[in-house]
Amino acid sequence: MAAIPSTFRAFVAERVADDRVERGLREAFPAEDLPDGDVEVRVDWSSVNYKDALATTADGKVARISPIIPGIDLAGVVVASSSPSFAAGDDVLAHGYDLGVARHGGYAEYERLPADWVVPLPEGLTARDAMAVGTAGFTAAMSVAALEARGLRPGDGPVLVTGASGGVGGSAVAILAARGHEVWAATGKPDEEARLRALGAAGVVARDEVTAESSRPLESGRWAGAVDTVGGPTLPYVLRTLRTGAAVASSGNAGGPRLETTVLPFILRGVALLGMDSVLMPIEERRGLWGRIATDLRPNGLGEGITEVTLDTLEPALDAILAGEARGRWVVRIRD
Ligand SMILES: NC(=O)c1ccc[n+]([C@@H]2O[C@H](COP(=O)([O-])OP(=O)(O)OC[C@H]3O[C@@H](n4cnc5c(N)ncnc54)[C@H](OP(=O)(O)O)[C@@H]3O)[C@@H](O)[C@H]2O)c1
Repeated sequence: MAAIPSTFRAFVAERVADDRVERGLREAFPAEDLPDGDVEVRVDWSSVNYKDALATTADGKVARISPIIPGIDLAGVVVASSSPSFAAGDDVLAHGYDLGVARHGGYAEYERLPADWVVPLPEGLTARDAMAVGTAGFTAAMSVAALEARGLRPGDGPVLVTGASGGVGGSAVAILAARGHEVWAATGKPDEEARLRALGAAGVVARDEVTAESSRPLESGRWAGAVDTVGGPTLPYVLRTLRTGAAVASSGNAGGPRLETTVLPFILRGVALLGMDSVLMPIEERRGLWGRIATDLRPNGLGEGITEVTLDTLEPALDAILAGEARGRWVVRIRD
């Protein structure tokens, strides 16, 4: 296989001291510095996630190699393959596993990947759509699928999404609404209400309400289900306000990693805490869920309201997401 040019453009982060990472665009990244792999991909689109921004900081604890091409999501076209499962010309995407963390990721014109990390682009999604979904939308879809597998049905009652202005939260609002659930969006950004309602939220809850401390282990059962992307003080609120038999899908810790709660929601209301890990999902399950994202788990307004950046304008986007200024999803157009 020799389909990747000897050098190509890539955005690289490199630790130059314990407390300093240098990052920027390299015009001539050497192809020989890519790891081995069965499938060579011309990357057309990637996306910007909080984790990508952390991979470019000295204390982010995300990058496990240096230098690294960050980018936990990528979509493009196979240019060469030694795997019988893929052929040149196939539209594909990849995310999860070590991508953009312990192996070069999507912020480059080319990548080389293990075949069992590669997902055929499902019919009905463009590569840009797939990156508008990205790891964030995938995690949201995984959360909705888990809640419904546990028994949640449209019409059961209000479903809460926390961190709703973020990538996972906004996607969860859009998927739940598209499936006919009554979605309530918890956000710390009142000015996001119009966008969240446009995605399908029936109502908005202030962040203060879902982070409030309470001495009561159980409160009035309000929610038929919940997608929690925040953790911290929010998950205990969700657990004590779920209805009998309801579940919360927990995927994030934007509000902190500690969980201080009681067992009473579990033993007196039979609620369930469902853990979501998109990184290590087995590939067959991952390919299956992408098929559903293109069809019955398709988010409302897919591809709309997306911020588009390029390898040249990526750096301010990484800074913005670190500063908490990002709204909705960002995609990276890799080539002109
Ligand atoms: N488990 C997995 O496989 C998986 C996959 C992807 C992401 N994640 C995790 O899921 C979480 C959300 O990811 P994301 O990509 O949606 O991130 P994001 O776009 O940065 O959104 C996070 C949102 O959380 C809310 N938030 C609530 N309390 C906060 C606080 N104290 N500080 C900062 N934000 C706070 C904010 O929304 P409001 O202002 O609307 O409240 C913010 O927009 C992260 O913890 C991420 O690491 C997990």
